[in-house]
Amino acid sequence: MTTEYFLGIDTSTTSSKALLINERGKVIAITSSPHTLQTPRPLWSEQNPLEWWKAVSVSIKSVLEKAGISGERIAAIGLTGQMHGLVLLDDGGNILRPAILWNDQRTQSQCDEIHRRIGKEKFIQITGNVALTGFTAPKILWVQENEPDVYAKAKHVLLPKDYIRYKLTGVFAMDKADAAGTVLFDLQARDWSREVLDALGIDVSWMPRTFEGTEFTGYVTEEAATPTGLKVGTPVAAGGGDQAAGAVGIGAVEPGIIGLTVGTSGVIFATTSSALVEPEGRLHAFCHAVPGMWHFMGVMLSAAGSLQWYRDSLAPEMSFDNLLKEAESAPAGSDGLQFLPYLSGERTPYPDPLARGAFIGLTLRHNRAHMTRAVLEGVSFGLKDNFRLIQNAGLGNITQVRASGGGTKGALWRQILASVLETELVTINTTEGAAYGAALLAGVGAGAWFDVASACKACIKITGSTLPELSQIDAYRKSYSLYQELYPALKSSFAKM
Ligand code: XUL
Repeated sequence: MTTEYFLGIDTSTTSSKALLINERGKVIAITSSPHTLQTPRPLWSEQNPLEWWKAVSVSIKSVLEKAGISGERIAAIGLTGQMHGLVLLDDGGNILRPAILWNDQRTQSQCDEIHRRIGKEKFIQITGNVALTGFTAPKILWVQENEPDVYAKAKHVLLPKDYIRYKLTGVFAMDKADAAGTVLFDLQARDWSREVLDALGIDVSWMPRTFEGTEFTGYVTEEAATPTGLKVGTPVAAGGGDQAAGAVGIGAVEPGIIGLTVGTSGVIFATTSSALVEPEGRLHAFCHAVPGMWHFMGVMLSAAGSLQWYRDSLAPEMSFDNLLKEAESAPAGSDGLQFLPYLSGERTPYPDPLARGAFIGLTLRHNRAHMTRAVLEGVSFGLKDNFRLIQNAGLGNITQVRASGGGTKGALWRQILASVLETELVTINTTEGAAYGAALLAGVGAGAWFDVASACKACIKITGSTLPELSQIDAYRKSYSLYQELYPALKSSFAKM
């Protein structure tokens, strides 16, 4: 029997990754090629979509070489990538300006304007979310207001991975999970909201047709086959934004199984079987990449990103392993030292681009071990804020919490997280997150598995468990309760900074 392969492509902020799996879900080869990021002004974050395409082409070509197979053997491709980024194209599919990314913070006044025009409650009711600077809709308004010449030429709105889809297939299309993250989407109807688009003066014809994550959206063109080594006619599945595809990649595809990801950002992810909305819009509510499902999500902007910043700025000579080993010598609660992880502003539970990071409570007794541990604990408390919102969102029983991302690899941080959240954390055999999920979605689309849940059951296994340390729970409860007082007390000072 000839083995079939599935390819997952993840266009993230830092690189484009190509991941090849076989029909049993085994990872055969992975390659990636980096992107640059432009921050031409404070709060701005932009990338050139053509750079993504070049990186994707290089990665696909080299993943095929690495695996020693020809493009003929790829049965289907699944796409994923950074969410929310605005790619504006003209009538001929040409890029009109650099993409404005998910972590760009320039659009607070456009978010306020969206709430003013539509009414915040109504907006939450339709889209499931409040307008946040990270999302796509306020970015479109920003271009409308600030670059009318660009806006006048716009004919297509795409998200990052959908630009890659356009380059691969020539088709303008988007998956429903990522489309929901534009906040121009009717969450319940799983389609564009005419009401929101009309109120914002955005032409519905600019928005691409949307598909469920496993559906095929188009086929590789001759033009794309040359730089990538793919076969003309290879089907490209819709896939999903990086969080939804990442949830597929760890098997968080049914209610009760919670995904906890500690990457640069920190995410708590819960699948729902109906379009539930958190009344104040503090949790993001989007469509899932699993057909007909939805999800809640709380997003912290600097999770392992906080530790990375801390190491790079204060202890660049130390390896992460040594830094974490040293932190074991500090007690739970870090002798009263607190760290606020809002280094890039925050999203959940405080949607505040002006929030700042802080060490609070330093005394002469504190040393580097306390400071490192305080960073791990502060991020864990931020995740607990998110976890509590999910626990209180009326979802029913949480049966399992699956930990993933670089931050959960070390035993100390996993232990702190389990004790702070007061829950068991399980680890799994798959570590490639979104790209792996995208490859599984392609496999389901091609018929290798009956549905997403059975693909996940067949390929993703539990490898370990971390239980809360009972002797530390009290210390963490006290410390968390203090942590909760700090942002409200400092909010107005942060705004003045
Ligand atoms: C999710 C989000 C991030 C980006 C980063 O809402 O903004 O996950 O997609 O890649």
